[in-house]
Amino acid sequence: MNRTPPHNIVVAAHPSSKIALIPGDGIGREVIAEAVKVLKATGGLDFHELPWSADHYLQTGRTIPPDGYDILREFDAILVGALGDPRVPDSRHARDILLGTRFELDLFVNYRPVRLLDDRLCPLKGRTRADIDFVVFRENTEGVYVGIGGRFKPGTDDEVAIQEEINTYKGVHRIIRHAFEFARAHGLRRVCMADKSNAMAHGHALWQRVYAAVQTDYPDIEATHLYIDALAMFLVQDPGRFQVIVTNNLFGDIITDIGGALQGGLGMAASGNLHPGRTSMFEPVHGSAPPLAGKNIANPIGAILSAALMLETLGRDDDARRIERAVESAVHDREVTRDVGGTLGTREAGEAILGRMT
Ligand code: NAD
Ligand code: IPM
Ligand code: MN
Repeated sequence: MNRTPPHNIVVAAHPSSKIALIPGDGIGREVIAEAVKVLKATGGLDFHELPWSADHYLQTGRTIPPDGYDILREFDAILVGALGDPRVPDSRHARDILLGTRFELDLFVNYRPVRLLDDRLCPLKGRTRADIDFVVFRENTEGVYVGIGGRFKPGTDDEVAIQEEINTYKGVHRIIRHAFEFARAHGLRRVCMADKSNAMAHGHALWQRVYAAVQTDYPDIEATHLYIDALAMFLVQDPGRFQVIVTNNLFGDIITDIGGALQGGLGMAASGNLHPGRTSMFEPVHGSAPPLAGKNIANPIGAILSAALMLETLGRDDDARRIERAVESAVHDREVTRDVGGTLGTREAGEAILGRMT
């Protein structure tokens, strides 16, 4: 029997959001399945799964459809597992799907929070949760990632390989500005910019100039600079000194794997690829981890916390905090995978978090 709903029916506080899912390859597929289970518990999301992956490329010869980026722009957010497969040694599909989306949707902020959830998980002697709580803003649309260059006489002893690094005023300015705005909005007092301007006298002089100019608008924030090699050292020796780090695309990639380790392993680390106000993309920091794939052993927490970052960006802070609390509780009770001291499989670890969603 059809019933007409009463006029005073309670409507959801937020209209349903359309989410594109790209589980991708390897453990990406397994961890996204757990993130989706947890997201479904919050409600208000319509999922649409896209098959783009190494399998899809090998079967169809296509990495992403010609209108792929337009398809993605129609969604409210995109949730990605991982892309990378030994059968595609040049990672062509990862470049088109992952890097292509970062470029084409102009997702210039790669937001990678580094937060230790339990002292026990820290690999550093004597460090606690108080020492490991910072965010990295990685420039996400320029640097060496743009793929400009080429190879001359490839495969010979005369080979020349050129890979250009691009730094533009617009690109450098907007990520540095974003880092300071984030610090101010979150009551943080310290921003550190890292470059290699001692060796890269052209491109990184631009970072120096822009950083010096932008910081004058934020007299309340202590703006420091480190060369990237020293920053890598301090991340291990004294991570408590950092609150907000801003750096270029490649350096940000490298130091956020260190950030993953500081949180207990790459399986714990979350990220968002953002363009404020536009469709953004969320993904764990880790890759497809071929040695772990298909074994139900990968840690789903990085993917689940990325899903929480997605909800935060969609304006659903309460649901994001619910997920984070459920994750913290599961970590505290060791209801986690083996890489972080538990005994559970990927699915069971996902269910332990789901069961804690209050
Ligand atoms: P990786 O992040 O896939 O794995 C490195 C190691 O980290 C693993 O062997 C494992 O020991 C550990 N690890 C990673 N994720 C884990 C998890 N969820 N649970 C437990 N342990 C975990 O890096 P890789 O081996 O250098 O790269 C594998 C493939 O993934 C490559 O093709 C690479 O290009 C791709 N990749 C993709 C992304 C992405 O899609 N965002 C990111 C990094 C690497
Ligand atoms: C990441 C990954 C990617 C990157 C790879 C897969 C191209 O390592 O998201 O950190 O370097 O950005
Ligand atoms: Mn990386």
